[in-house]
Amino acid sequence: MSQKLNQEEKLQNFINGEWLEPGNGAYADVTNPATLETLVQVPLSGKEEVASAVEAAKKAQKDWALVPAPQRAEVLYRVGLIMKERKEYLSRWLTMENGKVLEEARGEVQEGIDMAFYMAGEGRRLFGQTTPSELKDKFAMSVRAPVGVVGIITPWNFPIAIATWKSFPAIVAGNAVVWKPASETPVMAFELAKIFEEAGLPKGVINVVFGSGSNVGEAMLEENDIRVISFTGSNEVGRGIASKCGQKLKKVSLEMGGKNAVIVMDDADLSLAVEGILWSAFGTSGQRCTACSRVLVHESLKDQLEERLMYEMAKLTIGNGLDESIKVGPIINQKGLEKIKSYIRVGNAEGAKLLAGGYVLENGEHKKGHYFAPTLFTDVKADMRIAQEEIFGPVVSLIPIKSLEEAIEINNGVEFGLSSSIFTKDINKVFAAQRDLDTGIVYVNAGTTGAEIHLPFGGTKGTGNGHRDSGLAALDVFTEWKSVYVDFSGKLQRAQIDVE
Ligand code: UN1
Repeated sequence: MSQKLNQEEKLQNFINGEWLEPGNGAYADVTNPATLETLVQVPLSGKEEVASAVEAAKKAQKDWALVPAPQRAEVLYRVGLIMKERKEYLSRWLTMENGKVLEEARGEVQEGIDMAFYMAGEGRRLFGQTTPSELKDKFAMSVRAPVGVVGIITPWNFPIAIATWKSFPAIVAGNAVVWKPASETPVMAFELAKIFEEAGLPKGVINVVFGSGSNVGEAMLEENDIRVISFTGSNEVGRGIASKCGQKLKKVSLEMGGKNAVIVMDDADLSLAVEGILWSAFGTSGQRCTACSRVLVHESLKDQLEERLMYEMAKLTIGNGLDESIKVGPIINQKGLEKIKSYIRVGNAEGAKLLAGGYVLENGEHKKGHYFAPTLFTDVKADMRIAQEEIFGPVVSLIPIKSLEEAIEINNGVEFGLSSSIFTKDINKVFAAQRDLDTGIVYVNAGTTGAEIHLPFGGTKGTGNGHRDSGLAALDVFTEWKSVYVDFSGKLQRAQIDVE
Protein backbone atom coordinates (compact mmCIF):
# COMPACT_ATOMS: atom_id res chain seq x y z
CA MET A 1 0.00 0.00 0.00
CA SER A 2 1.48 3.32 -1.04
CA GLN A 3 2.13 5.75 1.75
CA LYS A 4 0.06 8.45 0.12
CA LEU A 5 -3.56 7.81 -0.52
CA ASN A 6 -4.79 8.51 -4.00
CA GLN A 7 -8.15 10.02 -4.54
CA GLU A 8 -10.72 7.48 -5.75
CA GLU A 9 -8.69 4.73 -4.12
CA LYS A 10 -10.55 1.74 -2.70
CA LEU A 11 -9.77 1.35 0.98
CA GLN A 12 -9.31 -2.15 2.34
CA ASN A 13 -10.08 -3.85 5.60
CA PHE A 14 -7.11 -4.68 7.83
CA ILE A 15 -7.54 -8.18 9.19
CA ASN A 16 -4.83 -10.35 10.70
CA GLY A 17 -2.19 -7.98 9.37
CA GLU A 18 -3.47 -8.21 5.80
CA TRP A 19 -5.16 -5.64 3.62
CA LEU A 20 -8.28 -7.26 2.24
CA GLU A 21 -11.14 -6.34 0.00
CA PRO A 22 -14.62 -7.10 1.33
CA GLY A 23 -15.80 -10.55 0.28
CA ASN A 24 -18.97 -9.16 -1.28
CA GLY A 25 -17.01 -6.60 -3.32
CA ALA A 26 -19.33 -3.82 -2.13
CA TYR A 27 -18.13 -0.26 -1.61
CA ALA A 28 -19.63 3.16 -0.94
CA ASP A 29 -18.38 6.60 -1.88
CA VAL A 30 -16.79 8.77 0.77
CA THR A 31 -17.70 12.40 0.17
CA ASN A 32 -15.91 15.57 1.15
CA PRO A 33 -18.68 17.57 2.88
CA ALA A 34 -17.03 20.85 1.88
CA THR A 35 -17.10 20.15 -1.86
CA LEU A 36 -19.27 17.04 -2.35
CA GLU A 37 -16.39 15.47 -4.28
CA THR A 38 -15.80 11.75 -3.89
CA LEU A 39 -12.61 11.17 -1.93
CA VAL A 40 -12.22 7.39 -1.73
CA GLN A 41 -14.31 4.25 -1.61
CA VAL A 42 -15.07 2.51 1.67
CA PRO A 43 -15.79 -1.22 1.91
CA LEU A 44 -19.25 -2.30 3.00
CA SER A 45 -18.22 -5.46 4.79
CA GLY A 46 -20.44 -8.02 6.46
CA LYS A 47 -20.38 -10.60 9.20
CA GLU A 48 -17.81 -12.81 7.44
CA GLU A 49 -15.19 -10.11 7.84
CA VAL A 50 -16.16 -9.58 11.47
CA ALA A 51 -15.80 -13.32 12.09
CA SER A 52 -12.31 -13.39 10.53
CA ALA A 53 -11.31 -10.30 12.48
CA VAL A 54 -12.48 -11.85 15.76
CA GLU A 55 -10.68 -15.10 14.94
CA ALA A 56 -7.45 -13.22 14.22
CA ALA A 57 -7.83 -11.06 17.33
CA LYS A 58 -8.47 -14.06 19.55
CA LYS A 59 -5.35 -15.80 18.33
CA ALA A 60 -3.14 -12.72 18.45
CA GLN A 61 -4.33 -11.67 21.89
CA LYS A 62 -2.96 -14.77 23.58
CA ASP A 63 0.62 -13.89 22.63
CA TRP A 64 0.14 -10.15 22.94
CA ALA A 65 -0.98 -10.48 26.56
CA LEU A 66 2.31 -12.26 27.30
CA VAL A 67 4.46 -9.48 25.85
CA PRO A 68 5.67 -7.43 28.84
CA ALA A 69 3.57 -4.28 29.12
CA PRO A 70 6.57 -1.91 28.74
CA GLN A 71 7.28 -3.56 25.38
CA ARG A 72 3.65 -3.30 24.33
CA ALA A 73 3.93 0.36 25.25
CA GLU A 74 6.94 0.85 22.99
CA VAL A 75 4.76 0.05 20.00
CA LEU A 76 2.38 2.82 21.07
CA TYR A 77 5.31 5.14 21.52
CA ARG A 78 6.37 4.47 17.93
CA VAL A 79 2.77 5.00 16.81
CA GLY A 80 2.90 8.42 18.49
CA LEU A 81 6.16 9.29 16.74
CA ILE A 82 4.83 8.33 13.31
CA MET A 83 1.61 10.26 13.91
CA LYS A 84 3.70 13.27 14.87
CA GLU A 85 5.77 12.99 11.72
CA ARG A 86 2.59 12.67 9.64
CA LYS A 87 0.55 15.24 11.53
CA GLU A 88 0.03 17.59 8.61
CA TYR A 89 -0.86 14.84 6.14
CA LEU A 90 -3.34 13.30 8.58
CA SER A 91 -4.83 16.69 9.43
CA ARG A 92 -5.45 17.55 5.79
CA TRP A 93 -7.21 14.26 5.16
CA LEU A 94 -9.20 14.72 8.34
CA THR A 95 -10.38 18.11 7.09
CA MET A 96 -11.24 16.60 3.72
CA GLU A 97 -13.29 13.70 5.02
CA ASN A 98 -14.86 15.34 8.08
CA GLY A 99 -15.00 19.01 7.13
CA LYS A 100 -13.58 20.47 10.36
CA VAL A 101 -11.23 23.37 9.73
CA LEU A 102 -7.53 22.60 9.47
CA GLU A 103 -6.62 24.23 12.79
CA GLU A 104 -9.11 21.97 14.57
CA ALA A 105 -8.02 18.95 12.55
CA ARG A 106 -4.46 19.52 13.72
CA GLY A 107 -5.77 19.77 17.26
CA GLU A 108 -7.57 16.48 16.89
CA VAL A 109 -4.53 14.67 15.49
CA GLN A 110 -2.53 16.14 18.37
CA GLU A 111 -5.02 14.58 20.79
CA GLY A 112 -4.16 11.22 19.28
CA ILE A 113 -0.41 11.86 19.55
CA ASP A 114 -0.81 12.89 23.18
CA MET A 115 -2.84 9.77 23.87
CA ALA A 116 -0.10 7.58 22.36
CA PHE A 117 2.58 9.00 24.65
CA TYR A 118 0.29 9.03 27.67
CA MET A 119 -0.79 5.41 27.23
CA ALA A 120 2.77 4.36 26.37
CA GLY A 121 3.65 5.58 29.88
CA GLU A 122 1.00 3.25 31.27
CA GLY A 123 3.09 0.33 30.06
CA ARG A 124 5.34 0.97 33.04
CA ARG A 125 2.49 1.59 35.47
CA LEU A 126 -0.79 -0.26 34.97
CA PHE A 127 -0.94 -0.03 38.73
CA GLY A 128 -2.80 -2.51 40.83
CA GLN A 129 -2.90 -2.60 44.62
CA THR A 130 -0.94 -4.55 47.15
CA THR A 131 -2.53 -4.88 50.52
CA PRO A 132 -1.93 -6.76 53.79
CA SER A 133 -3.57 -10.13 54.16
CA GLU A 134 -5.59 -10.94 57.25
CA LEU A 135 -3.49 -14.08 57.62
CA LYS A 136 0.18 -14.63 58.47
CA ASP A 137 2.64 -15.41 55.68
CA LYS A 138 0.22 -14.55 52.99
CA PHE A 139 0.49 -11.89 50.29
CA ALA A 140 -2.51 -10.15 48.72
CA MET A 141 -2.67 -8.00 45.59
CA SER A 142 -4.88 -7.04 42.71
CA VAL A 143 -3.67 -6.75 39.13
CA ARG A 144 -5.24 -5.52 35.93
CA ALA A 145 -5.82 -8.35 33.45
CA PRO A 146 -6.79 -7.82 29.81
CA VAL A 147 -10.35 -8.79 28.95
CA GLY A 148 -9.36 -10.45 25.65
CA VAL A 149 -10.93 -9.27 22.42
CA VAL A 150 -12.54 -5.84 22.55
CA GLY A 151 -14.82 -4.19 20.02
CA ILE A 152 -14.65 -0.48 19.39
CA ILE A 153 -17.14 1.54 17.37
CA THR A 154 -16.09 5.11 16.61
CA PRO A 155 -17.91 8.17 15.26
CA TRP A 156 -17.23 10.49 12.34
CA ASN A 157 -16.95 13.70 14.36
CA PHE A 158 -13.60 12.82 15.99
CA PRO A 159 -12.52 9.94 13.79
CA ILE A 160 -8.91 9.75 14.91
CA ALA A 161 -8.92 11.15 18.46
CA ILE A 162 -11.71 8.91 19.72
CA ALA A 163 -10.15 5.90 18.00
CA THR A 164 -6.96 6.52 19.98
CA TRP A 165 -8.88 7.05 23.25
CA LYS A 166 -10.24 3.55 22.86
CA SER A 167 -7.64 1.49 21.01
CA PHE A 168 -4.50 2.70 22.82
CA PRO A 169 -5.55 1.79 26.37
CA ALA A 170 -7.00 -1.48 25.07
CA ILE A 171 -3.71 -2.38 23.39
CA VAL A 172 -1.36 -1.36 26.17
CA ALA A 173 -3.45 -3.43 28.58
CA GLY A 174 -2.89 -6.55 26.45
CA ASN A 175 -6.14 -6.83 24.52
CA ALA A 176 -6.70 -7.30 20.80
CA VAL A 177 -9.11 -5.01 19.00
CA VAL A 178 -11.82 -5.30 16.37
CA TRP A 179 -12.65 -1.80 15.20
CA LYS A 180 -15.55 -0.52 13.18
CA PRO A 181 -14.92 3.10 12.16
CA ALA A 182 -17.67 5.40 10.91
CA SER A 183 -18.19 4.98 7.16
CA GLU A 184 -18.26 8.78 6.65
CA THR A 185 -14.62 9.11 7.81
CA PRO A 186 -12.74 5.90 7.03
CA VAL A 187 -9.48 7.50 5.93
CA MET A 188 -8.37 8.21 9.50
CA ALA A 189 -8.94 4.56 10.41
CA PHE A 190 -7.11 3.35 7.33
CA GLU A 191 -4.16 5.64 8.08
CA LEU A 192 -4.06 4.67 11.76
CA ALA A 193 -4.07 0.99 10.84
CA LYS A 194 -1.11 1.61 8.50
CA ILE A 195 0.70 3.38 11.32
CA PHE A 196 0.10 0.45 13.68
CA GLU A 197 1.50 -1.85 11.02
CA GLU A 198 4.60 0.30 10.51
CA ALA A 199 5.11 0.65 14.26
CA GLY A 200 5.41 -3.14 14.47
CA LEU A 201 2.17 -4.11 16.16
CA PRO A 202 1.91 -7.89 15.71
CA LYS A 203 -0.68 -8.99 13.18
CA GLY A 204 -4.17 -9.49 14.50
CA VAL A 205 -3.78 -7.20 17.51
CA ILE A 206 -5.79 -4.56 15.72
CA ASN A 207 -8.30 -5.37 12.99
CA VAL A 208 -10.27 -2.77 11.10
CA VAL A 209 -13.56 -3.75 9.49
CA PHE A 210 -15.31 -1.08 7.48
CA GLY A 211 -19.05 -1.22 7.01
CA SER A 212 -22.41 -0.16 8.30
CA GLY A 213 -23.68 -0.36 11.85
CA SER A 214 -26.45 -2.69 10.81
CA ASN A 215 -24.03 -5.17 9.25
CA VAL A 216 -20.61 -4.86 10.85
CA GLY A 217 -21.74 -3.29 14.14
CA GLU A 218 -24.53 -5.81 14.70
CA ALA A 219 -22.22 -8.70 13.87
CA MET A 220 -19.76 -7.47 16.49
CA LEU A 221 -22.50 -7.47 19.13
CA GLU A 222 -23.38 -11.05 18.22
CA GLU A 223 -19.80 -12.32 18.56
CA ASN A 224 -19.43 -14.07 21.91
CA ASP A 225 -15.67 -13.69 21.85
CA ILE A 226 -15.87 -9.90 21.90
CA ARG A 227 -16.10 -9.25 25.62
CA VAL A 228 -16.26 -5.45 25.65
CA ILE A 229 -17.91 -2.96 23.35
CA SER A 230 -16.77 0.63 23.59
CA PHE A 231 -19.01 2.94 21.60
CA THR A 232 -19.21 6.67 20.91
CA GLY A 233 -22.16 7.88 18.89
CA SER A 234 -25.84 8.64 19.07
CA ASN A 235 -28.13 7.86 21.98
CA GLU A 236 -30.46 5.84 19.86
CA VAL A 237 -27.73 3.49 18.63
CA GLY A 238 -26.08 3.39 22.07
CA ARG A 239 -29.27 2.27 23.77
CA GLY A 240 -29.68 -0.52 21.22
CA ILE A 241 -26.10 -1.65 21.80
CA ALA A 242 -26.57 -1.59 25.57
CA SER A 243 -29.63 -3.80 25.47
CA LYS A 244 -28.03 -6.33 23.11
CA CYS A 245 -24.86 -6.41 25.20
CA GLY A 246 -26.96 -6.77 28.34
CA GLN A 247 -28.46 -9.97 26.98
CA LYS A 248 -24.99 -11.37 26.33
CA LEU A 249 -23.46 -9.98 29.53
CA LYS A 250 -20.89 -8.07 27.53
CA LYS A 251 -19.30 -5.11 29.19
CA VAL A 252 -20.34 -1.99 27.36
CA SER A 253 -19.00 1.53 27.58
CA LEU A 254 -21.12 4.24 26.00
CA GLU A 255 -20.30 7.84 25.20
CA MET A 256 -23.24 9.67 23.69
CA GLY A 257 -25.01 12.99 23.53
CA GLY A 258 -24.80 16.30 25.29
CA LYS A 259 -26.81 19.47 25.76
CA ASN A 260 -24.00 21.50 27.19
CA ALA A 261 -24.49 24.93 28.72
CA VAL A 262 -22.27 27.93 29.26
CA ILE A 263 -23.39 29.94 32.29
CA VAL A 264 -22.58 33.65 32.16
CA MET A 265 -22.91 35.26 35.59
CA ASP A 266 -23.37 38.99 36.15
CA ASP A 267 -19.71 39.44 37.14
CA ALA A 268 -18.34 37.54 34.11
CA ASP A 269 -15.61 38.88 31.86
CA LEU A 270 -17.97 39.33 28.94
CA SER A 271 -15.33 39.39 26.20
CA LEU A 272 -13.93 36.13 27.47
CA ALA A 273 -17.40 34.60 27.67
CA VAL A 274 -18.15 35.65 24.09
CA GLU A 275 -14.93 34.02 22.89
CA GLY A 276 -15.65 30.87 24.87
CA ILE A 277 -19.19 30.60 23.50
CA LEU A 278 -18.13 31.14 19.89
CA TRP A 279 -15.36 28.57 20.10
CA SER A 280 -17.35 25.89 21.81
CA ALA A 281 -20.64 26.47 19.94
CA PHE A 282 -19.38 26.87 16.39
CA GLY A 283 -16.10 24.94 16.43
CA THR A 284 -16.49 21.72 14.40
CA SER A 285 -19.73 23.42 13.26
CA GLY A 286 -21.28 22.44 16.58
CA GLN A 287 -20.88 18.75 15.74
CA ARG A 288 -19.26 17.78 19.02
CA CYS A 289 -20.90 16.00 21.87
CA THR A 290 -19.26 18.66 24.04
CA ALA A 291 -20.51 21.60 21.95
CA CYS A 292 -22.15 24.51 23.75
CA SER A 293 -25.80 24.55 22.68
CA ARG A 294 -27.29 26.56 25.57
CA VAL A 295 -26.16 29.83 27.06
CA LEU A 296 -27.62 30.61 30.47
CA VAL A 297 -27.01 34.31 30.82
CA HIS A 298 -27.69 36.54 33.78
CA GLU A 299 -30.55 38.83 32.83
CA SER A 300 -28.45 41.93 33.52
CA LEU A 301 -26.06 40.97 30.70
CA LYS A 302 -28.54 39.48 28.26
CA ASP A 303 -28.85 42.42 25.83
CA GLN A 304 -25.13 43.06 25.79
CA LEU A 305 -24.31 39.42 25.23
CA GLU A 306 -26.82 39.10 22.39
CA GLU A 307 -25.35 42.12 20.70
CA ARG A 308 -21.74 40.98 21.11
CA LEU A 309 -22.51 37.47 19.91
CA MET A 310 -24.37 38.69 16.82
CA TYR A 311 -21.53 41.05 15.99
CA GLU A 312 -18.90 38.31 16.28
CA MET A 313 -21.03 35.67 14.55
CA ALA A 314 -21.40 37.91 11.53
CA LYS A 315 -17.61 37.86 11.20
CA LEU A 316 -17.29 34.06 11.17
CA THR A 317 -16.05 32.86 7.80
CA ILE A 318 -17.76 29.71 6.60
CA GLY A 319 -16.39 27.40 3.95
CA ASN A 320 -13.85 24.74 3.06
CA GLY A 321 -11.65 24.15 6.11
CA LEU A 322 -8.53 23.63 4.00
CA ASP A 323 -8.54 27.40 3.50
CA GLU A 324 -6.90 28.68 6.66
CA SER A 325 -8.94 31.86 6.74
CA ILE A 326 -12.11 29.82 7.28
CA LYS A 327 -13.44 29.53 10.83
CA VAL A 328 -16.49 27.27 10.39
CA GLY A 329 -16.59 24.23 8.11
CA PRO A 330 -19.48 22.27 6.63
CA ILE A 331 -22.01 19.88 8.17
CA ILE A 332 -21.12 16.23 7.65
CA ASN A 333 -23.95 15.29 5.27
CA GLN A 334 -27.45 16.03 4.02
CA LYS A 335 -29.01 14.07 6.87
CA GLY A 336 -27.20 16.22 9.42
CA LEU A 337 -28.31 19.34 7.59
CA GLU A 338 -31.94 18.19 7.53
CA LYS A 339 -31.88 17.52 11.26
CA ILE A 340 -30.57 21.03 11.97
CA LYS A 341 -33.19 22.54 9.66
CA SER A 342 -35.93 20.65 11.43
CA TYR A 343 -34.84 22.11 14.79
CA ILE A 344 -34.98 25.63 13.37
CA ARG A 345 -38.63 24.95 12.51
CA VAL A 346 -39.18 23.53 16.00
CA GLY A 347 -37.59 26.59 17.66
CA ASN A 348 -39.65 29.00 15.59
CA ALA A 349 -42.84 27.08 16.32
CA GLU A 350 -42.04 27.02 20.04
CA GLY A 351 -41.83 30.81 20.06
CA ALA A 352 -38.07 31.25 20.48
CA LYS A 353 -36.70 34.40 18.85
CA LEU A 354 -34.26 33.79 16.00
CA LEU A 355 -31.54 36.45 16.19
CA ALA A 356 -29.02 35.14 13.67
CA GLY A 357 -28.63 32.35 11.11
CA GLY A 358 -31.22 29.62 10.86
CA TYR A 359 -30.66 28.78 7.21
CA VAL A 360 -28.66 26.64 4.80
CA LEU A 361 -26.00 28.55 2.86
CA GLU A 362 -26.66 27.86 -0.79
CA ASN A 363 -25.03 30.60 -2.81
CA GLY A 364 -21.65 30.80 -4.52
CA GLU A 365 -19.00 28.47 -3.12
CA HIS A 366 -21.45 27.25 -0.48
CA LYS A 367 -23.56 25.62 -3.14
CA LYS A 368 -20.83 22.99 -3.46
CA GLY A 369 -21.11 21.68 0.11
CA HIS A 370 -23.34 21.25 3.17
CA TYR A 371 -23.18 24.57 4.97
CA PHE A 372 -25.38 25.95 7.71
CA ALA A 373 -25.22 29.50 9.06
CA PRO A 374 -24.23 29.84 12.73
CA THR A 375 -27.51 30.33 14.52
CA LEU A 376 -28.63 32.09 17.68
CA PHE A 377 -32.04 31.79 19.31
CA THR A 378 -32.95 33.96 22.28
CA ASP A 379 -35.77 34.19 24.82
CA VAL A 380 -35.64 30.42 24.90
CA LYS A 381 -37.46 28.61 27.71
CA ALA A 382 -35.58 25.83 29.44
CA ASP A 383 -38.20 23.23 28.58
CA MET A 384 -38.42 23.96 24.85
CA ARG A 385 -37.25 21.13 22.63
CA ILE A 386 -34.43 23.25 21.18
CA ALA A 387 -33.12 23.61 24.75
CA GLN A 388 -33.56 19.94 25.61
CA GLU A 389 -32.59 17.87 22.57
CA GLU A 390 -29.21 17.46 20.90
CA ILE A 391 -29.15 19.26 17.54
CA PHE A 392 -25.51 18.51 16.58
CA GLY A 393 -25.03 21.67 14.59
CA PRO A 394 -24.12 25.34 14.96
CA VAL A 395 -27.24 26.33 16.90
CA VAL A 396 -27.22 28.05 20.29
CA SER A 397 -30.15 28.86 22.56
CA LEU A 398 -29.93 31.78 24.94
CA ILE A 399 -31.88 31.42 28.19
CA PRO A 400 -31.99 34.31 30.68
CA ILE A 401 -31.40 33.45 34.36
CA LYS A 402 -31.66 35.41 37.62
CA SER A 403 -29.28 33.50 39.90
CA LEU A 404 -26.66 30.78 40.03
CA GLU A 405 -29.19 28.45 41.64
CA GLU A 406 -31.55 28.90 38.71
CA ALA A 407 -28.70 28.38 36.23
CA ILE A 408 -27.70 25.13 37.91
CA GLU A 409 -31.26 23.89 37.95
CA ILE A 410 -31.65 24.61 34.24
CA ASN A 411 -28.25 23.17 33.43
CA ASN A 412 -29.17 19.95 35.23
CA GLY A 413 -32.69 19.79 33.87
CA VAL A 414 -31.84 17.91 30.70
CA GLU A 415 -31.50 14.27 29.80
CA PHE A 416 -27.72 14.59 29.27
CA GLY A 417 -24.77 15.37 31.52
CA LEU A 418 -21.58 15.71 29.52
CA SER A 419 -20.03 19.17 29.86
CA SER A 420 -20.84 22.52 31.45
CA SER A 421 -19.12 25.84 31.94
CA ILE A 422 -19.37 28.93 34.10
CA PHE A 423 -17.95 32.39 33.56
CA THR A 424 -17.60 34.29 36.83
CA LYS A 425 -14.93 35.99 38.92
CA ASP A 426 -16.51 34.94 42.20
CA ILE A 427 -14.55 32.08 43.78
CA ASN A 428 -17.54 31.05 45.88
CA LYS A 429 -19.67 30.65 42.77
CA VAL A 430 -16.87 28.69 41.10
CA PHE A 431 -16.72 26.11 43.84
CA ALA A 432 -20.47 25.86 44.30
CA ALA A 433 -20.91 25.40 40.54
CA GLN A 434 -18.24 22.71 40.15
CA ARG A 435 -19.95 20.81 42.95
CA ASP A 436 -23.55 21.23 41.80
CA LEU A 437 -23.34 20.99 38.00
CA ASP A 438 -24.16 17.35 37.35
CA THR A 439 -21.98 16.87 34.27
CA GLY A 440 -18.91 14.67 33.82
CA ILE A 441 -16.84 17.71 32.79
CA VAL A 442 -16.99 21.24 34.24
CA TYR A 443 -15.09 24.25 32.90
CA VAL A 444 -14.51 27.52 34.72
CA ASN A 445 -13.91 30.58 32.56
CA ALA A 446 -13.65 28.52 29.38
CA GLY A 447 -16.21 27.08 26.95
CA THR A 448 -17.59 23.55 27.08
CA THR A 449 -15.00 21.94 24.79
CA GLY A 450 -11.31 21.20 25.04
CA ALA A 451 -11.02 18.11 27.21
CA GLU A 452 -7.46 16.93 27.79
CA ILE A 453 -6.65 13.28 27.22
CA HIS A 454 -5.20 12.45 30.64
CA LEU A 455 -8.44 13.11 32.49
CA PRO A 456 -11.60 11.00 32.31
CA PHE A 457 -13.93 11.97 29.46
CA GLY A 458 -17.63 11.25 29.69
CA GLY A 459 -20.84 12.21 31.33
CA THR A 460 -23.72 11.46 33.62
CA LYS A 461 -27.34 10.45 32.93
CA GLY A 462 -28.24 9.93 29.25
CA THR A 463 -24.72 10.77 28.09
CA GLY A 464 -23.46 7.34 28.94
CA ASN A 465 -23.63 4.39 31.26
CA GLY A 466 -21.12 5.29 33.92
CA HIS A 467 -17.91 4.54 32.06
CA ARG A 468 -15.29 6.98 30.88
CA ASP A 469 -12.94 7.29 27.92
CA SER A 470 -9.46 8.77 28.35
CA GLY A 471 -7.40 9.18 31.49
CA LEU A 472 -6.79 6.25 33.77
CA ALA A 473 -10.52 5.59 33.73
CA ALA A 474 -10.16 4.17 30.22
CA LEU A 475 -8.17 1.27 31.64
CA ASP A 476 -11.17 0.28 33.73
CA VAL A 477 -13.13 -0.37 30.54
CA PHE A 478 -10.47 -2.56 29.00
CA THR A 479 -9.26 -4.55 32.01
CA GLU A 480 -10.64 -6.92 34.57
CA TRP A 481 -9.49 -6.76 38.17
CA LYS A 482 -7.85 -9.95 39.30
CA SER A 483 -7.23 -10.44 43.03
CA VAL A 484 -4.28 -12.71 43.74
CA TYR A 485 -3.51 -14.34 47.09
CA VAL A 486 -0.15 -16.02 47.63
CA ASP A 487 0.09 -18.14 50.74
CA PHE A 488 3.68 -18.88 51.73
CA SER A 489 2.94 -20.36 55.15
CA GLY A 490 3.21 -23.94 53.93
CA LYS A 491 -0.09 -24.86 55.52
CA LEU A 492 -3.70 -24.44 54.57
CA GLN A 493 -4.88 -21.22 56.15
CA ARG A 494 -8.59 -20.54 56.04
CA ALA A 495 -9.55 -16.90 55.60
CA GLN A 496 -12.02 -15.53 58.12
CA ILE A 497 -11.61 -18.72 60.21
CA ASP A 498 -7.93 -19.14 61.11
CA VAL A 499 -7.48 -15.52 62.09
CA GLU A 500 -6.79 -15.94 65.82
C1 UN1 B 1 -16.66 14.58 21.03
O1 UN1 B 1 -17.29 15.57 20.70
O2 UN1 B 1 -17.15 13.45 20.86
O3 UN1 B 1 -13.29 18.20 24.48
C2 UN1 B 1 -15.29 14.61 21.57
C3 UN1 B 1 -13.50 18.19 23.27
C4 UN1 B 1 -12.67 17.30 22.40
C5 UN1 B 1 -13.31 15.97 22.24
C6 UN1 B 1 -14.75 15.99 21.81
N1 UN1 B 1 -11.36 17.17 22.98
O4 UN1 B 1 -14.37 18.87 22.77
